[in-house]
Amino acid sequence: MNHCSSIEPEVRSHTLDSHHVKTLCIDDIPAILELENACWLPEIRASEETLRTRFAMGHISMGVFVDNYLVGLTSFSYTRFNPDKPNGLPETFKEFSSHPRHSDHNAAYVYNLNIHPDYRGESLTRKLIWAGIEQLREDNCVYMLGAGRCPSYNGSLGEGIETIQPSRVFRETIDHSIQSGILPATKELIIDPVLRFYRRTLGCKFLRVAPNFLPGDTPSGNVGVIFYKTL
Ligand SMILES: CC(C)(COP(=O)(O)OP(=O)(O)OC[C@H]1O[C@@H](n2cnc3c(N)ncnc32)[C@H](O)[C@@H]1OP(=O)(O)O)[C@@H](O)C(=O)NCCC(=O)NCCS
Repeated sequence: MNHCSSIEPEVRSHTLDSHHVKTLCIDDIPAILELENACWLPEIRASEETLRTRFAMGHISMGVFVDNYLVGLTSFSYTRFNPDKPNGLPETFKEFSSHPRHSDHNAAYVYNLNIHPDYRGESLTRKLIWAGIEQLREDNCVYMLGAGRCPSYNGSLGEGIETIQPSRVFRETIDHSIQSGILPATKELIIDPVLRFYRRTLGCKFLRVAPNFLPGDTPSGNVGVIFYKTL
């Protein structure tokens, strides 16, 4: 069990001006649930049981705090990946987020990046991401893998959680890719703000459109776009 006290020697903290980033543990679950409520539409929020299962599987979550208040987090699990043979990657968020820790890993699946709406548009997201990357490098990861939602597929008027206009062009691009199996050009994918965010922040390479990535993510038409970055 991943209790704060029991993993204290391994907790790595990064002091960032008045904010700080640290590895989370099961004692942080109430704060994580509060953040899930603020960041995700009800259909795609993680339950307490899901969070406990992720900790029990050895997944790592890193959170960014402002005045001891959790305002953002990201999670990852360790795996093996070869960019020359990208087949066999998880096709769904459930697989991504419930993958057992690989004993001979060289990569990490990164999932659940979210920042409280009141703290978006600042530098906190980048600080969290780069603290996560630093930890992955320390843990001998050469690659990180992620999957971006793409809410401009249907658009999102998400109760203060996110407001994103739908894009007909983007939707046609995704539908064509699902039918043909051909990866769209990067410039076509980054019409979507979340995919543009990942491309701009990480310089990642997109790999595949996954049609049923996250059931319940109606804004994205349940679609996710899988990407990787060499660390
Ligand atoms: C994705 C996220 C972490 C980015 O954090 P941030 O602090 O807004 O990041 P930045 O200020 O550095 O970048 C903002 C850019 O991301 C875009 N963006 C990403 N996700 C967005 C969202 N859900 N709503 C509105 N804009 C979003 C913005 O349009 C902006 O792009 P632009 O400048 O080209 O218009 C944050 O928006 C978030 O938590 N979103 C909800 C959860 C989510 O969808 N996470 C991604 C899971 S794959």
